[in-house]
Amino acid sequence: MRWFFLILAIASSAIALALGPRGTKFSSPPFMLFPDMDNQQIVKPQKPSEFFENGQGARKPVEGTVPLGLEFPTGKSAPTTPLDFSRGDSYYDTGRFGDYFGKGFPEEVKVDGAFLERGKQRFAITCSPCHGTSGNGHGAVSKYWLLPPTANLLDARVKKMPEGQIFSTITHGQGLMGPYNGILAVKDRWAIIAYLRALQNASGK
Ligand code: HEC
Repeated sequence: MRWFFLILAIASSAIALALGPRGTKFSSPPFMLFPDMDNQQIVKPQKPSEFFENGQGARKPVEGTVPLGLEFPTGKSAPTTPLDFSRGDSYYDTGRFGDYFGKGFPEEVKVDGAFLERGKQRFAITCSPCHGTSGNGHGAVSKYWLLPPTANLLDARVKKMPEGQIFSTITHGQGLMGPYNGILAVKDRWAIIAYLRALQNASGK
């Protein structure tokens, strides 16, 4: 009986300790058993940093370098701004008109030979490892990919999919496919869609 009361006392104080402090406000940081990388020596956006001489946290890009996924602007096809990534809510930037996916190509792009060539090159680099060079879903990765199968882009479903929806899929990803907005400039995403349409037409189904 003595043991029973001892265990009861220990158990109830453990429960009281565990539940008691909930909802109480503390001024000191909580004790973390598993810190989960919550505290890191990182520079937060817009914050100063003593590490650098001028005390400024944000660094300017090294002179002569180009952000990942971009190329030096040359000729008429040059990006209109230094950073040609989504920056608005137009059809060109989102593939949407309000709540709806748009159909067709936005007026900002001109689908010609050079544009398709660009799309072919970007498709080969970014999409073909999974979807295959012909878009049939049998890329190199599909041999190792378990569930679900990589989508066949020549499928009637994708053929019927509005251009805006494909743009949105490239931008945000879908299921196991990740987003590619960080490495594909907006114009390149449209170029890939133009090339994908050519692949679908060529497949004849
Ligand atoms: C890492 C592998 C991988 C890469 C790279 C990849 N995808 Fe996908 N993609 C998938 C998988 C897997 C699915 C099926 C996702 C799901 O529905 O769960 C998919 C789905 C899609 C769909 C929707 C198909 C449908 O039937 O709903 C489209 C469109 C698509 N991908 C286009 C692209 C394009 C264009 C690129 C290149 C910019 C690309 N994907 C790159 C793996 C990939």
